Amino acid sequence: MNVVIIGAGAAGLGIGWQLARQGATVTVLERAQYAHGAIWAAAGMIAPVGEGMEGPLAQFGQQSSRLWPDFAATLEAQSGVSIGYARKGALLVAADGDEAAHLARRAEQEEDLQLLNASQAVEREPLLTPLIAGAAFAQDEAQVDTRALGHALARALIAAGGTIIQNEAVVRIEVSSGRAVAARTPFRLHEADAFVIAAGAWSSGIDGLPPGTVPQIKPIKGEIIAYAVPSDAATLREVVWGKGVYLVPRGRRVLAGASVADVGFDTSLTKTVRAFLEERATALIPALAQWRVDEHWAGLRPASPDGLPVLGRSQVDGLFVASGQYRNGILFTPVLADVMARTVMTGALPPEHAAFDIRRFA
Ligand code: GLY
Repeated sequence: MNVVIIGAGAAGLGIGWQLARQGATVTVLERAQYAHGAIWAAAGMIAPVGEGMEGPLAQFGQQSSRLWPDFAATLEAQSGVSIGYARKGALLVAADGDEAAHLARRAEQEEDLQLLNASQAVEREPLLTPLIAGAAFAQDEAQVDTRALGHALARALIAAGGTIIQNEAVVRIEVSSGRAVAARTPFRLHEADAFVIAAGAWSSGIDGLPPGTVPQIKPIKGEIIAYAVPSDAATLREVVWGKGVYLVPRGRRVLAGASVADVGFDTSLTKTVRAFLEERATALIPALAQWRVDEHWAGLRPASPDGLPVLGRSQVDGLFVASGQYRNGILFTPVLADVMARTVMTGALPPEHAAFDIRRFA
């Protein structure tokens, strides 16, 4: 089977890698540079609890979280790239009594959440301010270095026989008698048996498709800053979630994110967001006030109309979609790769994922 995938991010590369391992001939077309969109910008949290997921989204997130250790090990073995997958847990911090009560209610229902008082939380995370109302620890939360992940996925895809073509945007899908037959770029036509749109925030901008084939996928901007850990200082022990901010230790840096802004494809950096993140981060970890911010960047999350992933076979034969991951593209990478490779191979989204079926928008 010949498959063309549109978009070389976490979804496109992951799906392409799985399909190539199953014997498909895979070409990934990327409008810019591979693994330089949302995957490059993401903080890399594998955080169904921190993100407060509920319902089918929580099930999907937990399923993917369970797949992550094997996925990471296989990816590292096949790519030769270390991706820094680490399951060290996450601390959810309550700033006031209302937040502490909310955490207590959650801990009653969520097995993975262990309630802590302020001094227990500071014992877990010595850099944390003691001026908190309480906390909870989620032991199964993890993180991965997303920039290494992108590199590893590309290497693994190529090692499995796949091809990545950069700087070649798909502008149109050619449809004949209700079937997708080719992806048109400014340079040529790519014919294939199946096409997968996995283009993140750009997923609904491709011409040639009947109206409504792909629901509107909106870019939602997130700005993040990174602090350099001073050479004589210890870093955070685990991911920390506070009011309006999360903190992620990544090597000798601590990432602090992220804003959520519906401003189109604008990825400009703003002093206002930087100041907001610094204020929230230092309120949680006072030592950060003495640390240097050494990077500030922005990325675009792909958001569907109902906030849920958009997966499966579209109304056009041979055209598949994997988009709408919104805040959870890194968490979902293993499950999406597995589910979408099966969908392309069999022609149908597995029924247990019906909540995310693209046809709900038909
Ligand atoms: N998953 C974190 C974010 O989207 O900011």
